[in-house]
Amino acid sequence: MKKLTIASLIIALTLSITACGAADTTSSSQDSVSGTEASQTESAAPATADSAESKTQGIDYKALVNKLHPLPDGWEDSLETVTVKNSLGDDVEVEKKAYDAYLALKADLEKDGVFVDLDSARRSVADQQRIMDVFTKEYGADYAIKTVAAPGYSEHHTGLALDLYLNIEGEDVYLNEDMVQYPEIWAKIHEKLPEYGFILRYLEDKEYITGYGYEPWHLRYIDDVDAAKEITSKGLTFEEYLGAVNTTDVTVDLGTSELYTEDELKEAAVQVKCKFATFDGCMLQSLRYAGDECNTEENIKWLNSLDEGAEYTKVAEFLMDFHTPKENSGAFDADKDMKDYQWWLAQDSEGSWQIVSFGY
Ligand code: DAL
Ligand code: ZN
Repeated sequence: MKKLTIASLIIALTLSITACGAADTTSSSQDSVSGTEASQTESAAPATADSAESKTQGIDYKALVNKLHPLPDGWEDSLETVTVKNSLGDDVEVEKKAYDAYLALKADLEKDGVFVDLDSARRSVADQQRIMDVFTKEYGADYAIKTVAAPGYSEHHTGLALDLYLNIEGEDVYLNEDMVQYPEIWAKIHEKLPEYGFILRYLEDKEYITGYGYEPWHLRYIDDVDAAKEITSKGLTFEEYLGAVNTTDVTVDLGTSELYTEDELKEAAVQVKCKFATFDGCMLQSLRYAGDECNTEENIKWLNSLDEGAEYTKVAEFLMDFHTPKENSGAFDADKDMKDYQWWLAQDSEGSWQIVSFGY
C-alpha cells in the first residue's frame, strides 16, 4: 500500500486539498494516521499541574492540549525546535528538549534490539487541517473524528508529541495497521518511556477520557521523570493526572440485552461518555442501558426523522445521572443533580453507533 506518513500526506494533500479522517488501530500514518476532534472528558480545570520546573525554556511542558484545550496562545513565541530527517527522508520538527530525550530513549532501546524513528512531531494548524482533510476523504468523517485532532487542538502543535514508527529487521513499519501487529515491541518501548520524561498519551480503554483510540506510537514529553513514572505506574491518562477529567471511572450498567452484544453496548457507552466529556464542569455519576424495550418501531422512526438521510435499523437508550457545575455555566442550572438524563443512539445496518439525541 502507498506510503502514508504524515509528511507525505501533507505534501500530497497540499497538491490536492480536500477533507479528512481516521481512527485508532487501522489505517496509516497520521499518528502514522490516527486522529480526532471534539468530544472529550475534562472539565475546565487548570490545564497544567504544578510545573514550575517544567518551564525552563519558557514553555509549559505540562500544558494540556486536547479536545477541550487548544494550544495555548503565544506558544510558538517561546518554543525552540530542531528539524531532523527520518529514515524515510521526511523532515520532522521536534521541541529541542524533547528531541534530546528521544535520542536518549532511542539509544537505550537499541541496546535491546528495538529500533524506532520519528514519523511526526510538531505540526502547524495548517498541517493538522490537511491531515484532517486527508483522513476524512480516505476513511470518512467518523473515523477522522476518532483519530485526528481538530486543527488548533492537537498535542502535535506543541512540539512535545512524538509519533514513532518501527524498524523491524531492517524494514520500516509505519502504517498504523502494521504497527499494531507488534504489541511486544511496543511494550518494550512503553516500559522505558518514563525514565526519559515521556508518557504514552492515548491509552487502551481510556478513549472516554482522552477522546481518542489507543495509539501505541504517540508519546508525550512532559520533562518530569517522577511525574512520568507516577502517571505510567498508575495507568493514568494525562487528563487524570492533571485533575482535568469530568468522566470518572463509573461502572456502566449494561443490564441484559438480547438485541446487542456486550461489546456493542460498551462501544455505545464510550460514545456517550465521550460526548458527555464536552459538558464542561459536569460530573458523571452513573450510566445505564435502559433495556431492549427502547427499540420500538416508533423510536426507530423518531430517530430516523431527526437525522436526514439516516437509515437506522435499531436504537438504544442510555440513562445518565450527573451533577452540574457549582457555578452557573449557562447550559444547566448550577450545582444540581440531574437524574435519568436520556441518551438516544441508533445503529445503521453496518452496526456503527450514532448519538442522535440527548436531553429530557
Ligand atoms: N492523533 C492525535 C490525537 C492528533 O491528531 O493529534
Ligand atoms: Zn500523534
